[in-house]
Amino acid sequence: MVTNSLPRSEPEEPNLVTQQFNPFTPEVLANPYPMYKALRQSAPVFFSDFMESWVLTRYQDVDFVLSDSRFSADRRQGRTRFSEMLAQQEADFGPFGRTQTMLTSDPPQHTRLRRLVSKAFTPRAVENLRPRIQEIVDYLLNEAEERGKFDLVTALAYPLPVIVIAEMLGIPPEDREKFKHWSDAVVETLGGPFTPPDVMERARNSITELADYLGHHIEERRKAPREDLISGLVQAEEQGQVLSEDEIFATCILLLIAGNETTTHLIDNSVYALLQNPAQIDILREDPSLMAPAVEELLRYIGPVQATGRVAMEPLEVAGHAIGEKQLVFTLLGAANHDPEKYPEPDRLDVRRNPTDHLAFGDGIHFCIGAPLARAEAQIAIGTLVRRFPKLSLLDEPSWGGTFIIRGVKSLMLSA
Ligand code: HEM
Repeated sequence: MVTNSLPRSEPEEPNLVTQQFNPFTPEVLANPYPMYKALRQSAPVFFSDFMESWVLTRYQDVDFVLSDSRFSADRRQGRTRFSEMLAQQEADFGPFGRTQTMLTSDPPQHTRLRRLVSKAFTPRAVENLRPRIQEIVDYLLNEAEERGKFDLVTALAYPLPVIVIAEMLGIPPEDREKFKHWSDAVVETLGGPFTPPDVMERARNSITELADYLGHHIEERRKAPREDLISGLVQAEEQGQVLSEDEIFATCILLLIAGNETTTHLIDNSVYALLQNPAQIDILREDPSLMAPAVEELLRYIGPVQATGRVAMEPLEVAGHAIGEKQLVFTLLGAANHDPEKYPEPDRLDVRRNPTDHLAFGDGIHFCIGAPLARAEAQIAIGTLVRRFPKLSLLDEPSWGGTFIIRGVKSLMLSA
């Protein structure tokens, strides 16, 4: 039900690109960049009836919205059918729906929640994890090398982030598979309110099981704290301030959801893009010190997170368009990262470009807290692959899976 359809700021010229705008089609999933270009050229800021939301594709507009505190990250506050469905979906999610995570909250709640986990993800904390990440990558690639031909997703890109985050949280190795299974079921719902009922049902069941499982670990850490993230969250709660039981649980799930699929697809999308641009791999083989800037360029060029959203908390203007109070704004990060005004020849992969101000991790107060970890995992995984396999090649064109929000290849068959 639309409770209050707000007036648009001005009548718009009929425009086929905007009228047909639907980012959730297989064609867009396979390659969203032509659609982004068409939108940026003909309607960089427009109201989509389909999404009941403003849609932004230019770098400066997207960055403005993400950095301005008059926009809320709590999408449920919007006065649209989309927001209502989102609220309903979250209400179905038991303890995960009962409380807000940092991703969807505003200050002061956001500040408090973010501060509690930020220590674990500082660049220095992540530096200490590098040797362990390298060990895991080497181990996973030993197995792949023996097979000669392998699917990069199942061999490396998928297991790596889950092993790392499970170890950080303090989940025992024997539970990793079911842990990953639960987290995947929740990630599947990221297509937004258009998620099919069977997917929702799977996610609901997984959340219940995960809640039981984590509840047991939280209880154990209360009795005997260890050197892991769950203990850190429990202790923060016990020092008098801050985290409720639901919040601890919701934070653990957020880290899973926000960190696993995203890092998987940064690695597999990047390797695909590099194999399509072999001269760029040669540059990296000649000068491995370019690996860090190369990952920034890959995040810009083919980063997995295509979009995020905000709600305008008061009437305001974006590039001359009047946005009404409680209207939703859909910020297309992938489009902003291919804006030629910001990055000349945006569709060219150039590992020397070093675009450190790309928006693949968002911007403003919600800038990805896991960015140092994702960067380290990608640098080590991709660096090891290109160093270790001089003849690495693509066996098949991949098909695209995931959701539009987190875009990535389903599998990537390679020959070592
Ligand atoms: C390539 C990998 C990743 C990408 C592209 C990515 C992207 C993003 C983006 C775009 C946002 C901002 C969303 C918004 O403004 O609405 C974000 C926030 C966040 N990310 Fe990541 N992420 C990645 C990996 C990770 C990892 C490894 C973790 C943790 C284990 C993580 C945890 C988070 C959290 C907790 C937030 C919310 C921060 C806040 O609201 O203050 N992410 N991420």
